[in-house]
Amino acid sequence: MTTPHSMPYPVIDGVRPLLGHMPEMQRDTYGFYLRHHRASGDSLRFNAYPFINFYSFAAPDALHHILIKARQKYSRGARWSRIVSHIGGKGIVTSTGDIWEKQRRAVTPYFQPAHVDKYTDMIVRNTYEMAQKWRRAGNDTTINVSREMMSLGLVNISDMLFNYDIRPRVETFASAMVDGFYYINRFIQNPLTPPRFLPLPVNRRFARDKAIADAVVRDIIAAVRKDDENCMINALVRAGNTDRQLHDEIITLLMAGYDTLSTALAWAWYLLARNPAALGKVKEELRDVLGPQGLPNAENVERLSYLRMVFKETLRLYPSAWAIHRFSEEADEVIGFPVRKGSSVVLPLYVTHRHPDFWKHPDEFYPEHFDKAEVEGRPRFAYLPFGAGEHVCVGAHLAGMEGVLILATLLQHLTPRLATGAEIAPLVNFTLKPSQDIVSFAV
Ligand code: HEM
Repeated sequence: MTTPHSMPYPVIDGVRPLLGHMPEMQRDTYGFYLRHHRASGDSLRFNAYPFINFYSFAAPDALHHILIKARQKYSRGARWSRIVSHIGGKGIVTSTGDIWEKQRRAVTPYFQPAHVDKYTDMIVRNTYEMAQKWRRAGNDTTINVSREMMSLGLVNISDMLFNYDIRPRVETFASAMVDGFYYINRFIQNPLTPPRFLPLPVNRRFARDKAIADAVVRDIIAAVRKDDENCMINALVRAGNTDRQLHDEIITLLMAGYDTLSTALAWAWYLLARNPAALGKVKEELRDVLGPQGLPNAENVERLSYLRMVFKETLRLYPSAWAIHRFSEEADEVIGFPVRKGSSVVLPLYVTHRHPDFWKHPDEFYPEHFDKAEVEGRPRFAYLPFGAGEHVCVGAHLAGMEGVLILATLLQHLTPRLATGAEIAPLVNFTLKPSQDIVSFAV
């Protein structure tokens, strides 16, 4: 919608004939957005092949407009939903309209603080067991923190949401999912990726991985249906879901619930290992609040305010969901810039979270960004790791609580020391993952 007051977009260099900005974007996705936004402003239009028109907005006001004020004009988009549905089928993350509303209503009670907080002790117990295992291995043993966090995240989410012990199958399930994320990321990054039905090795491998994940989900359904009248699965059945829909909801919730959180925890471990002053403050707070050997619980976790700031700062620098994707169903004007109907709209949280107008040290680890006074002086939409509006993360409270509990339990007994001093860059692989596994000693 162009009005007489609409502003022209800045010209972005590096356009290649026919391909537009796609090659640069695919080479270095989050870096591409960060560079161009910092050089040319908060509202950009890119060229991505002649047939895709897309925009990127990094200003908090633009995020507020698209996610809240004008949300009826935007959907998650058929292309994005189709890609994610390769793994998640027609679950809550890809469904729309009445179906999405029904699913969201059915699962929401299971994510309310009153429900989630009942699992505090279980999360601490699972984490403590893992910490003991690391300790038994000795100080000189390297730990692949990225993978350990993934296993712990899966065990916790599966215990909490489905009362299902995934431990015996956690390795196979996790590695099938890692490959699955890699597979769908190719489609997101490159609209010309060959379709799934072609008999290519990459498609055959994905079919094998999907069969592994599907078998675990079938097992969850069978085990839980017999068992527990009050579990989320039975709530979904009561909401009228068929077995197929139930399957899609479970895989979606597993997928949404562990990968995002375990990635954030691996980054937190990395950041603390590289920032001894912040680590010292965390340790001091743990001693003060929990005592020398104590473990966190539902009551004292509230008082770990510096550790909470550390976790928030981790999600600022490395937001697991690095961008939110929308599709314009109608023409619009976003903070003075025209958006054409039928366009892809990217809200790169990674860029907003490092915007020099709102953060004292945009690219540095500085937990004090979340001091009360700093938070009050900043627009709310400058920090949105869990999104906003009707699709706001249903697991936000769970993730915040679980993240702090896991870090508190580990750091109360162990100190991270990285196995290599090299800086690890993030890499977009569906979520914003470390480009190599974070490997550490825990002393
Ligand atoms: C650090 C951890 C997490 C981060 C950074 C995160 C981030 C996000 C973001 C940004 C969205 C909004 C997407 C959009 O607007 O298109 C979202 C949605 C969602 N998240 Fe999370 N999430 C996390 C953990 C979890 C957990 C633990 C669960 C629980 C299973 C979960 C389940 C979901 C679901 C189901 C949605 C879709 C909601 C809807 O469309 O109605 N997330 N998440």
